[in-house]
Amino acid sequence: MTTVPTIKLNHGGVEIPVIGYGLGTAHFKRADNPTLDPAITAAAQTALNAGFTHLDGAEAYRNEPELGIALSSSSSRIPRSSLFITTKLYGSISSPSQALSASLKKLGVDYVDLYLIHAPFWDEKEKGITIEEAWRELEGLYDKGLVKAIGVSNFGVEDLERIKKVARVPPAVNQIEYHPYLQNPELKEYHNKHGIVTAVYGPLIPITKATPGPLDGVIEELSKKYNKSATQILLRWAIDDGNVVITTSSKEWRIKEALAVTEFKLDDEDVERVRTVGKEKRHRVFWTKEFKE
Ligand SMILES: NC(=O)c1ccc[n+]([C@@H]2O[C@H](COP(=O)([O-])OP(=O)(O)OC[C@H]3O[C@@H](n4cnc5c(N)ncnc54)[C@H](OP(=O)(O)O)[C@@H]3O)[C@@H](O)[C@H]2O)c1
Repeated sequence: MTTVPTIKLNHGGVEIPVIGYGLGTAHFKRADNPTLDPAITAAAQTALNAGFTHLDGAEAYRNEPELGIALSSSSSRIPRSSLFITTKLYGSISSPSQALSASLKKLGVDYVDLYLIHAPFWDEKEKGITIEEAWRELEGLYDKGLVKAIGVSNFGVEDLERIKKVARVPPAVNQIEYHPYLQNPELKEYHNKHGIVTAVYGPLIPITKATPGPLDGVIEELSKKYNKSATQILLRWAIDDGNVVITTSSKEWRIKEALAVTEFKLDDEDVERVRTVGKEKRHRVFWTKEFKE
């Protein structure tokens, strides 16, 4: 079984595996539908069987019950302590404690390894809670041991600064859209300065949603040089650029291909080349209305 390297988070002594399997995008359920979707459970089971131990879920994906079934079916083989389960809070931001209880129940676990505020874009008046207040609530859940680490997603420097002013426990992770066509050096620098791990989603966008682009030829060349697929080159780039990468697939062969990126590494000059050529194009896919670009 593949051993996935980890990065130590800035609190709780928790270690996050550098590659995670996402339950969003492809597996996201558009409407609250109590009927369980066996395809989602099967995909999560395939990921667990292949060796993924880091699972990225969210209240908003509406599929925590399906992930919960996959987790319980693997529990005889994979001890809870070997899993890294993330979930996120957004729609229920007004009541983090109840939201977490509901998520834990659906996932069938006593705690999650990482609890993230999914995005900073809610209307604070309408929801009756500010970013600072929400963060303090997450700190309370952390104190109770219901979450091993706390963090955010889609936060910018200004949002992180608001948290910094009130935080007893700093955010451990900021999960953001990030790939060669959406680099954010200022935010990364802020993360590095404050010990926040950058977890990235959408790592494959340069080949799935932003072609043609200036990197097409470079990725092809690197695929030949390393004898790896374009998917693997981009996942490996995300890791070698210093991030935790979240990806997903409904196909067993691609799930295995993704995990196999732990078996090679890009040379520094190739990491830099992708970084440099990637800056020639900018392409955001998620939360485009909120980021206004
Ligand atoms: N925090 C947030 O706001 C946020 C937002 C978005 C996503 N996320 C998280 O990040 C996870 C991954 O996001 P993502 O889906 O954008 O990740 P991604 O890794 O960029 O893309 C995965 C998708 O690309 C497809 N794919 C892989 N290789 C391909 C290839 N060579 N050609 C064509 N298609 C290919 C896969 O399809 P197949 O199924 O066919 O393999 C899969 O649907 C989500 O599941 C979620 O957990 C978080």
